[in-house]
Amino acid sequence: MRTRIIGTGSCLPETVVTNDDLSKIMDTSDEWISSRTGIRERRLVKEETTASMSIEASKRAMENAGVSAEDIDLIIVATITGDHVTPSTSCEIQAAIGADRAVAFDINAACSGFMFALHIADAYFKSGIYKTALILGAETLSRIMDWNDRSTCVLFGDGAGAAVVRADDTGLLAYDQGSDGAKGMVLACQNRKNNNPLVKNPMDMEYTSMDGQEVYKFAVTKVPSSIKKVLDEAGLTVEDIDYFALHQANIRIIQSVAKRLKVSEDKFPTSLDHCGNISAASVPILLDEMNRKGLLKPGMKIVLSGFGGGLTWGSAVLEW
Ligand code: UT7
Repeated sequence: MRTRIIGTGSCLPETVVTNDDLSKIMDTSDEWISSRTGIRERRLVKEETTASMSIEASKRAMENAGVSAEDIDLIIVATITGDHVTPSTSCEIQAAIGADRAVAFDINAACSGFMFALHIADAYFKSGIYKTALILGAETLSRIMDWNDRSTCVLFGDGAGAAVVRADDTGLLAYDQGSDGAKGMVLACQNRKNNNPLVKNPMDMEYTSMDGQEVYKFAVTKVPSSIKKVLDEAGLTVEDIDYFALHQANIRIIQSVAKRLKVSEDKFPTSLDHCGNISAASVPILLDEMNRKGLLKPGMKIVLSGFGGGLTWGSAVLEW
């Protein structure tokens, strides 16, 4: 039994914000942002919410997969920016699409979240508990940015990506995941403050903060080693892989991974230029773009890799 992606969908907010737009409200420039990151514009929510984009992405993925709400056993949303602490975004999706039979819950593994959700679904399938799942990465990161901090807010965007996965004869061939909580504070965001008058709140960090260079170093060493691990486990080499769909954090990270693996950058599709970094949503949105462009053909071998907050990482190699 393997876990196969049988449909994809995504949803981005309507509002496009270019680097030039940002340079009108803060001390930055298109030159600085695009040369350091590859980002030219991102979509940011106005009316949209994490749930509304997730619901739309789910409907598109289900239509693409040819499944109905009754077919869904499990809904997992990877997010650090659900609209509510409870109910979960996945429960909101369940209600909106009418997947009454499904079990629904959210997970937090930041930018690796979609990869972790894929692995959880795979474990459920292997144990025989469920057969069909809807898995998503969805974020409204613009809500947790300090818009006075140009070193972080220009990097991130909003959006949702979904995939329908099913127990099948082919699909996921090998998987690697890991966490390094000791380095967690290099990319951090505080939750709601304690308002209880009986306690003093020692923390004063409300929005996202990042030591960009530490995250960069982590990504360019961990991602290639994680990808090599899944290829070894699957008995494949980089030459066997048609595409490497990586978390979209920075074009320089992607170029460095390509160089370390000795693979042409042409095999690394990107959505970074028009989406920015959308944490857990990056990989499924990129996959949906590849799918809808007709890049993915049955039998192709694809590597997926997510990395980021936690710190966490997860890679998989799969047959399409
Ligand atoms: O999902 C995973 C999450 N994150 C990542 O993967 C991020 C990984 N890290 C990176 O991508 C890079 O470290 C960044 C793109 C975040 C930053 O690039 P950098 O080359 O490491 O820049 P820096 O932080 O060393 O800053 C260089 C300069 C500083 O000015 P001074 O001190 O040299 O005068 C910053 O103040 O650039 C300045 N700067 C900016 N200037 C214009 C920082 N942000 C901006 C900005 N516009 N938006």
